[in-house]
Amino acid sequence: MGKCYPTVSEEYKKAIEKLRRKLRGFIADKNCAPLMLRLAWHSAGTYDVSSKTGGPFGTMRLKAEQAHGANNGLDIAVRLLEPFKEQFPIVSYADFYQLAGVVAVEITGGPDVPFHPGREDKTEPPVEGRLPDATQGNDHLRDVFVKQMGLSDKDIVALSGGHTLGRCHKERSGFEGPWTTNPLIFDNSYFTELLSGEKEGLLQLPTDKALLNDPVFRPLVEKYAADEDAFFADYAEAHLKLSELGYAEA
Ligand code: HEM
Repeated sequence: MGKCYPTVSEEYKKAIEKLRRKLRGFIADKNCAPLMLRLAWHSAGTYDVSSKTGGPFGTMRLKAEQAHGANNGLDIAVRLLEPFKEQFPIVSYADFYQLAGVVAVEITGGPDVPFHPGREDKTEPPVEGRLPDATQGNDHLRDVFVKQMGLSDKDIVALSGGHTLGRCHKERSGFEGPWTTNPLIFDNSYFTELLSGEKEGLLQLPTDKALLNDPVFRPLVEKYAADEDAFFADYAEAHLKLSELGYAEA
């Protein structure tokens, strides 16, 4: 399954590099890496492999998609990025939001996720209801990640490690609190905390806890808790796949 990336102009490549630098400074300054990673993930995670609709094509810029229940709070991310979009009008929203996700992981100490520019903006938001529901279990996670998005069991566990960053906000999702004691650092502490059980002040969603009760998922949780390099390698691969769902298929 080779990827066939579009050719982008030298001017476009230069704009991406300059924007990447600006985003590093801005996201660090605003401490908004978690929100930017969530923006990139919710942009891409709507991809439906059977209808080839949804995915990382810039539609989160549209009010209609920001209004989906799962996206509460992401209007803030879109608004924070808008001044940069005005400075770099050549860059598509689609590339822009995915680049913000890659930079968020990079500047908080996570792995380098490869980035291939050239996504085009679509005009139709995806239907609502494609992102995972935190109150459900493993069958639901597989329905969304494997059947709908076309990712793998390993990708589910690696990408769940994205919760090493950030926290839940009662007014956005109904849940409250961070997963780790260092929510602005990208490391493997999501997995070590998950294995060590519930703790005062930290949170585990039903979908996080469900990973412990599955014969495929649990050994991966244990592996990533014991070996951060293994987590970083699998995370980078899974994030790359997520960021390119429906993009540049051969
Ligand atoms: C496995 C299914 C998933 C479920 C059910 C889920 C659910 C949630 C919920 C309920 C929140 C809280 C939102 C809020 O109240 O602000 C959240 C936050 C977050 N999620 Fe997930 N998530 C999932 C997967 C992912 C993935 C794959 C990533 C990225 C690779 C990710 C990255 C984040 C980040 C960074 C935050 C924190 C945002 C902030 O601090 O503002 N999540 N997620």
